[in-house]
Amino acid sequence: MTGSGVTHLLKGLWLLWLWEAAFVSGSKLWDVPTAPFTSPVNSTVNQVWEPPCQSQLRHLQDGARITAVIPPRLEGSWVSTRCEVRPGPEFLTRSYIFYPSRLFKALQFYYADSGCQEPAYSLVIRGKIRLRQASWITRGGTETEHHLHKVAIIFHSHTAIHRLAARMPSLCLGQAPVGWVPGRLYELYNSKVGWGCLGPLGFSMMELSLLRVETQHHPHGQMVKELFLGDVHTDWSQRTHYHPTGYQRPLQNSMHHVHPCPVCARVYRSSEQRPPVLPPNPAVPLSLDGRWVSQGCESRPAVLFLTRLFTFHERHRAWEGLYQHYSDPGCRQPTFTVWAQGHYSQGGPSPRVRGATEIVFKVTRAEVTALDRPTARLLNVSRRGSCGRAGDWAVGAEQDVTSTDGCAALGIKLPHKEYELFKVELDHRRRPLLLIGERPTDGSSPDRPQKRPTSYQAPLIQCSANTPPSHRHSQQSAPSPAPTSGATGLWRHLGSSLASLFSCYILAVH
Ligand SMILES: *[C@@H]1O[C@H](CO)[C@@H](O)[C@H](O)[C@H]1NC(C)=O
Ligand SMILES: *[C@@H]1O[C@H](CO)[C@@H](O)[C@H](O)[C@H]1NC(C)=O
Repeated sequence: MTGSGVTHLLKGLWLLWLWEAAFVSGSKLWDVPTAPFTSPVNSTVNQVWEPPCQSQLRHLQDGARITAVIPPRLEGSWVSTRCEVRPGPEFLTRSYIFYPSRLFKALQFYYADSGCQEPAYSLVIRGKIRLRQASWITRGGTETEHHLHKVAIIFHSHTAIHRLAARMPSLCLGQAPVGWVPGRLYELYNSKVGWGCLGPLGFSMMELSLLRVETQHHPHGQMVKELFLGDVHTDWSQRTHYHPTGYQRPLQNSMHHVHPCPVCARVYRSSEQRPPVLPPNPAVPLSLDGRWVSQGCESRPAVLFLTRLFTFHERHRAWEGLYQHYSDPGCRQPTFTVWAQGHYSQGGPSPRVRGATEIVFKVTRAEVTALDRPTARLLNVSRRGSCGRAGDWAVGAEQDVTSTDGCAALGIKLPHKEYELFKVELDHRRRPLLLIGERPTDGSSPDRPQKRPTSYQAPLIQCSANTPPSHRHSQQSAPSPAPTSGATGLWRHLGSSLASLFSCYILAVH
C-alpha cells in the first residue's frame, strides 16, 4: 500500500521522539496513567467514548497503577496465562525461568490442537541473557543479547514424531527418525552442534532480544507482574532472523499473576516430561454485536502504541473502529485517531485455526484527527489530494479523508478489503473476549485470502453488548453511499501510537 508515506511519517515522529527522549534519558521509571484514554484534546476522543465503554475502560484500569522499571528485573518464573497462538499457526504454552546469574531455562510446550490439550513436543532451552540498553526503536523496551547453551526436544506422541520427522534432517537426533521415541530427551543444539536441526523447526529465541516488565499495582495491594517478550514475525521465512520491535502477549510472574489463573498453575507445575494440558475452553459462538475495547495500551511492531474500540452491528453487517495512536508505551500522549467504518461478511470456520471464523472486512469511510502538532504538521504538508484537505490540518480538528480515497501519509486506502480471522473466547471471569487477526509484521495488509492471519492481536473486551446508533451518522443526516441499509452500523476502533500507521492499515482493513 502506501508504505512509503507511513515510513516517512514514522520517521518524522520518531526523530521527534528521539529528540524528546534525549531530554528524559535520565529518567528510569515510567508511570503509566490510570486512564490513558483521557485526552487533553477534547474533540474526537471524548465524543467517541460513550458512557458504557468509557466507564468500563476506566474500571479495567481501575486504580491499577502500572510501572515499568528500566532496566527490568527478570529474575523469577514466568508463565503463559492462556493457550498461545503463533503465526503458522502454532499453539503453545511457555514457562521461562530467569536466574540471578543471568542464566535462563525456557520451556516451550507445543500442541497439536488450538486448545493446548494435546501435547506434541516440548523444547528445553538453556542459555544466558545480558541486558544491553533501552531500545531506541521501541520506546519502553530493553534490548538484550542472549547466548544459547543447549536446546533439547522431547516428543509426547508418535504422531508428533511423524509430523516433525518430515521436516527435519534425518540424522538430527543422533539417529534416523524411525528410532525416535516419545518421552526421551534429544539434544538438537549445543556448542558443538550447528543450527541444522533447529532451522526446520522455525526455531528462534529472538523474542529475548526485546523485553519489558510491567508491574500493575492494584488498589487492594494485589500486584501483577507481566513479562513482554519480542514478537514473532508473521512470515515463517523471516522469523529466525527477525529482530522484534513489538511484543507477544505477556507472560505473568508465577508469584504475581491475575487470580484466578488455572492455566498459570498448570504451566507452572509442568515439566518437559509432563507438559501442561489446559482445561477445555468452551466454544463460544461468534456474536459480534456490541462494542469491544482494548484492555490496555497495545504495542505493534515498529513503534506503534494504540488502543482500539470497535462497534459491530450484526444485523446490518456493519462495523466502526476507532484507533487511537500514542507516542509512548503508556498511551498517555495521543498523536492521532483514525475512525473507520464499513461492512463485513462472515465466512465459515477457519480450516487452519480451529475455533476461529473467517471474515472479510470492507472499509468505506475514514476520518482522521491529529492530536499533536508534529502529526498535524506532517499531514498538513502531504501531497494535495492524498489526505483530506492539505493545508487545513490542525490539532484536534477532524477531517474526513474518504473523498481523497484515504490518507496516503498514514497508509489508509479507501475503499479497502481485508481477509480476517476472528474468535470469541471467555476470560477467567467468563466475560467475552474478541480476538482479531494479527497484522502482517511487515506493515502490509491482509488484502488477499493467502495473507489471512493465523494468529491474533491482543484480545478486546466487550464493554457493551448493545450496539448504539452511530453517533456519526446521527450527526449527519445525509445518507452515506453505503451499499446496504447498514449505513448506520458503527464501530470504532481506538488505535493509538505512532505506528498506528499500522492501525491505519487496519483501518484500511476493517
Ligand atoms: C473543549 O470543550 C470545552 C467545553 O466542552 C469547549 O468550550 C472547548 O471549545 C473545547 N475545545 C476544543 C478544542 O474543542
Ligand atoms: C497548515 O498549512 C496552512 C497553509 O499552509 C497553514 O496556514 C497552517 O498554519 C498549517 N497548520 C499546521 C498545523 O501546520
